[in-house]
Amino acid sequence: MSELNKIALKILSNGKGILAADESNGTMTKRLESVNIQSSPENRLLFRETLFLSESMMDCIGGVILYDETINQSSNSGKKIPTLISDTGAVPGIKVDTGAKVLANSSEEKITEGLDGLRERLKDYYQLGARFTKWRGVYNISKKYPSQIAINSNTHALARYSALVQECGMVPVVEPEVLMDGEHSAEDCFTKTSEVIQKCFEELIIHKIDLTGIILKPNMILAGNKSKNKISNEEVSLKTLKCLKQSVPNEVPGIAFLSGGQSEIEATENLNLINKNNNTNFIMTYSYGRALQQSALKFWSKDIKDSKGTQNIFNHRAKMNTLAAQGKWSSELENK
Ligand code: 13P
Repeated sequence: MSELNKIALKILSNGKGILAADESNGTMTKRLESVNIQSSPENRLLFRETLFLSESMMDCIGGVILYDETINQSSNSGKKIPTLISDTGAVPGIKVDTGAKVLANSSEEKITEGLDGLRERLKDYYQLGARFTKWRGVYNISKKYPSQIAINSNTHALARYSALVQECGMVPVVEPEVLMDGEHSAEDCFTKTSEVIQKCFEELIIHKIDLTGIILKPNMILAGNKSKNKISNEEVSLKTLKCLKQSVPNEVPGIAFLSGGQSEIEATENLNLINKNNNTNFIMTYSYGRALQQSALKFWSKDIKDSKGTQNIFNHRAKMNTLAAQGKWSSELENK
């Protein structure tokens, strides 16, 4: 078993999942201002540190994705944030892309940047304690999109990123996100997501990536959020499994879904059904941002000194998702 494979399995095994706490300062500012909290470095750290000190970190969270600001911060106790995380048994990770910009010659689409100087930045992050990384390529669906230019350029970047990350001894989380924004059907989501993921693995293989040492972070197969033809959670799980079964090589150890704007309960219920129906060898778990943090953030914003109350809410969500990652969740457990 390679070192990279060991790290991936440590993050994903036994129902554990990933806490995606890597919102950029711009995104985090939107999240904090939506609950009337000023977005200062201190407040961003305070909320995140409250989560990292939660009980569920030990049993539920296998990895935490940090943002550059946070990985360089120290907690109230003086501990460096990556140390605080590894002390709970979770693996510290870091978002290394520098964001999605307008794609030349296809201006309604995006290309994710961050390859320049990446090798040097990775060395610094490794020194700070990171053992896995994240890069997100993003695609929107419409009649024309995603275009071939967007698919090719973003999957190429994901492969170059993955090669540099593995060279540095870390596990790349490979995130090709097909957005749920729009009127498209679940069938369109299935077709486009399959195309993107297949092209992504074609590029990863060309770039000689050790597939046993990556984590795939895809979207689930859903109808667009403005679609009139929603499908049931059961259908979401079956379509998602069908897509991944036919598009992801067997060597990949695990798949950790993004929540992508689903509600907390929806993201948990869909993950649970995916695991109940899982007819693949892949570990199927969560790498949620909003679906793990939304309620906790709302509660915290009412009284930022009540860390215990915030942690109770976060613990509950983490526990529910860890049950879902084993196909053991049920809606009755939500009210206990
Ligand atoms: P959401 O779960 O909020 O979609 O965030 C996951 C993520 O890391 C997006 O890049």
